[in-house]
Amino acid sequence: MKVGILTGGGDCPGLNAVIRGVVRVVHNGGGQILGLVEGWRGAIEGDFVPLHPANTDDIVDRGGTILGSSRTNPYKDEALVEKLIATFHRLGLDALVAIGGDDTLGVANRLFTERHLPVVGCPKTIDNDLSSTDVTFGFDTSINIVMEAVDRLRTTAESHRRVMVIETMGRHAGWIACYAGMATAADFILVPEVEVDFNRMCNLLVKRREAGKKYGVIVVSEGAKLPDSEEFVTRDAELDEFGHVKLGGVGELVADVIERRTGIETRWVTLGHLQRGGTPSAYDRVLGTRLGIHAGRLVIDRDFGKMVALRGTDIVAVPLSAAVGKLRTLDLDFLKEAEEFFQS
Ligand code: F6P
Repeated sequence: MKVGILTGGGDCPGLNAVIRGVVRVVHNGGGQILGLVEGWRGAIEGDFVPLHPANTDDIVDRGGTILGSSRTNPYKDEALVEKLIATFHRLGLDALVAIGGDDTLGVANRLFTERHLPVVGCPKTIDNDLSSTDVTFGFDTSINIVMEAVDRLRTTAESHRRVMVIETMGRHAGWIACYAGMATAADFILVPEVEVDFNRMCNLLVKRREAGKKYGVIVVSEGAKLPDSEEFVTRDAELDEFGHVKLGGVGELVADVIERRTGIETRWVTLGHLQRGGTPSAYDRVLGTRLGIHAGRLVIDRDFGKMVALRGTDIVAVPLSAAVGKLRTLDLDFLKEAEEFFQS
């Protein structure tokens, strides 16, 4: 059996653990694995590297993906889909494992349902916004990076009696901001799911200062929308191949409002791609490895059109069609818990 594997979309810590898991299981089952380079681009062009236990056994601690990634979308042009299918047959593949977020898995689902390509999906993203799985790997590493950054920013904010606004990633879901904000005892957390209430936040900062707390920490998700605005704050007008805007800049705007309304000196930091880089946490290595093992088993069993997912502590297989297209936004119960600390 010859199996292709690819990683698509934004990279995240834990991808290499999945690759290692799939390679080991397929190898144990007597199969061969081709690593398709840079997501769907490699699948279209037939650009690959042979993978086996010897070249994947020591990658579990490495961030990013050894295969490279891209946001290439074969469905932006039907001719690319034809080319991808021709390449699949030319390489003699019997199966394809696609590791990615909603975009990559959406393509995998269409290839399975519309073109009957034997695919298996594996969910990944630091944003933790995929439905059908309880947690995505990458998220744990990411919130720990934000936590370390905020711990450092807190000491300088405190020394200078400033407010520090930290902008996190997460796209249109507030998981990273909410978890990291809770882990760092942020004074206020702004997420895309709830309209920004500047009055409440600024009053709180002023009251806390009057009560003796001379600095403040605000965590804001990049997808938070400012009041009376239908627009997200974006870096430029360009869209990626899947039609997504490039979010970024809301932290600066929030800092500006705080300084103007409260008179408290305020600084802002956008953590950006730091949140996706570097070595994965133990949790993400284990989750990635387990997902990889189960994705490999689905391939060996020729159980296609499925995605591996975490449910409780079990890894289960769910239909790809049920897993894509639905954003899993922040469960507001988490924010309600965090809000206990937003009282003056
Ligand atoms: O989906 C993961 C993510 O890191 C988002 O949190 C962020 O908005 C986006 O990717 C950034 O994408 P890029 O790496 O293309 O700038």
